[in-house]
Amino acid sequence: MSNDVRSHLVGLLLGAEEDWPRAFEAILKMVGPLKAGGTTHTLETERVRIHPFDLTDDVRHEMVIDRLAYWYYHPREWLKKAALMNDTYLLNSPFTFQAMEKHSAYCAMLRLGMKIPKTVLVPYKNPVDNVRWAYTSAKYNDPFDLDAIADQVGYPLYMKPFDGGGWRGVSRVDDRESLHRSYDESGNMLMHLQATIDYDHFARALSIGPETMVMDFRPGEPMHSRYAVTHNFLSQQAGWETETVSKVVNAFFGWEFNSCEMLVRGDDVHPIDYANACPDVAVTSLHYYFPWAMTALVRWSAYCLVTGRKSFIGVRSPRAYFDIADDPDRSYLEKMQAYRALADQEFDSEHYWQWCEDNLSHLPERVLEWVASPAFDTLLADTVRATYPQHEHEQFMAHFRGLTGLWVKDQQSLRGAR
Ligand SMILES: Nc1ncnc2c1ncn2[C@@H]1O[C@H](COP(=O)(O)OP(=O)(O)OP(=O)(O)O)[C@@H](O)[C@H]1O
Ligand SMILES: [Mg+2]
Repeated sequence: MSNDVRSHLVGLLLGAEEDWPRAFEAILKMVGPLKAGGTTHTLETERVRIHPFDLTDDVRHEMVIDRLAYWYYHPREWLKKAALMNDTYLLNSPFTFQAMEKHSAYCAMLRLGMKIPKTVLVPYKNPVDNVRWAYTSAKYNDPFDLDAIADQVGYPLYMKPFDGGGWRGVSRVDDRESLHRSYDESGNMLMHLQATIDYDHFARALSIGPETMVMDFRPGEPMHSRYAVTHNFLSQQAGWETETVSKVVNAFFGWEFNSCEMLVRGDDVHPIDYANACPDVAVTSLHYYFPWAMTALVRWSAYCLVTGRKSFIGVRSPRAYFDIADDPDRSYLEKMQAYRALADQEFDSEHYWQWCEDNLSHLPERVLEWVASPAFDTLLADTVRATYPQHEHEQFMAHFRGLTGLWVKDQQSLRGAR
């Protein structure tokens, strides 16, 4: 048998963050050489540099995890070149994220029968490039009655951009007066009017490959306490469904690192925002869930690289999903189960967990030791210093130490119970 050694390089494409990249770098080192067949695989990581590139330049990164390119276009185009010319594996496809922003994502999941709140797209208040299209708009644009549309959607409603993100341009509209004010202010943004869901729980799911964590989210809280640490906050049915929606969205669009926001009322799950190309994984927002997220990112990266998983480039055919959606003999729940089966197939779920068991069973224990160690505390302290003003350092250090310490305790007692 041959004894090849193959080294795989994971690139990190980053914004201002230092916390999760340091964690990822530390945890990736714990993976160690992995044997598959006659080949020994080693994994390395490097932060991606930004510079001019010839379209034919070599690309050393076999995979890139991206937290930047949605907003920063030069490296986004480099990612596309790397995928198209060098087969670089991208956890998030910039191709589909550009094609499938919030609006298309609503349409697609509505077609699948998911409980998307009633949503209407209204024309621009101030059409872009208006002079050029004056003839068209005079001849073809139907006049419309904004008040009548809002009445149909019902008050209060949300007005938000069709391609939104980061609360840009989002407003809650309580009456006619604020409707017109918000619309006038929308200017060059193309807006949805969306019915409000009065929810019991805001569930935010983060999915990384086949792994999903559904978290109890409080959007009104400041960033550091938006994720509450509440286990089993949903009924069994709603818990299964939130997890399923997140996985199905990702499988449908070909995303492997994405967060999905759902409003849950009783057992009903209403997805409202699920195209988040560069989901937040900062330790200062995820805290308790941060070690899980980093472990999942490392595990999924290792799995893809060592097993030679090929990434899909472009927008995939939704037909298999639509065939299920259009089947009049299936109930909502049966459809969700069938989509979930497709998603599990897409992410090799069963094979993945077996592979992790065979190759990375040591990892959770090592991560636990690391999170309990002074090295992690230093990472936390550096992050707190870089994120908050000096007079708040002590308060936030205690806050995050408490939450990550709680995770350590919970993991230790889970292990003890086994
Ligand atoms: N239909 C709705 N019913 C109730 N609340 C809503 C609805 N749509 C939006 N919201 C509220 O407005 C917030 C922002 O909306 P949305 O997530 O769609 O915008 P966004 O720009 O993607 O924001 P973010 O980046 O913070 O997720 C949501 O977190 C939620 O609290
Ligand atoms: Mg949102």
